[in-house]
Amino acid sequence: MNNIMIKSPRLLIRRFTSADGNDFAEILTDSETVFYEPYEIFTQEQAVAEAEKLSHDERFFAVEHQETGKMIGKLYFSNESFSNTYEVGYTFNRQYWGQGYASEAVRAFLQYAFTEMQVTRICAIANVKNKRSCHLLEKLGFQKEGVFLENAYQLHSSEKIVFCYYSMIKNCLSVGAC
Ligand SMILES: CC(C)(COP(=O)(O)OP(=O)(O)OC[C@H]1O[C@@H](n2cnc3c(N)ncnc32)[C@H](O)[C@@H]1OP(=O)(O)O)[C@@H](O)C(=O)NCCC(=O)NCCS
Repeated sequence: MNNIMIKSPRLLIRRFTSADGNDFAEILTDSETVFYEPYEIFTQEQAVAEAEKLSHDERFFAVEHQETGKMIGKLYFSNESFSNTYEVGYTFNRQYWGQGYASEAVRAFLQYAFTEMQVTRICAIANVKNKRSCHLLEKLGFQKEGVFLENAYQLHSSEKIVFCYYSMIKNCLSVGAC
């Protein structure tokens, strides 16, 4: 996956570079965007450094808006916790929500993983209150397998939380009926 380049109609999925720093800062310094994420809000300087750090991390991918060249989202894809199951994650610039960019990027990435990487099972874990994330997963064809009650803590809230565990097996992308 070293020099990965995945094109969808409007987007390019590629490795992070240090030049993504300022665009990444728009994402990581926004409290609403990081609310459900497992990290604190970043400062501008931390976000710029994070882009450089992720350029050396094979688990992360930048999503570029082809028309403008702007980096508008981050994808995460890793099997570090599971033997044969990869986990997908995503975070997009809030200015680009509600325009189908996240679903376009995740769908393109899943297609690549199932066909080029021969991955057979992909999971995603979302706070049940994160309606946009749950909706995105269900729209793409992920199946809800169960919930984790008070399984993890959330940085930005003292509430007890419930995580929903979703999965998709090969050939179920966008079908939703496997
Ligand atoms: C989760 C997140 C990625 C979802 O982003 P999003 O923009 O809501 O998701 P989508 O790309 O699916 O876009 C949603 C809407 O865009 C609209 N849209 C506009 N133009 C569109 C197009 N050309 N194609 C598709 N949808 C389009 C649709 O109405 C769609 O809503 P629908 O599915 O009800 O039809 C985003 O909220 C985010 O980054 N959140 C912060 C980080 C986070 O919580 N990550 C998940 C942790 S588990």
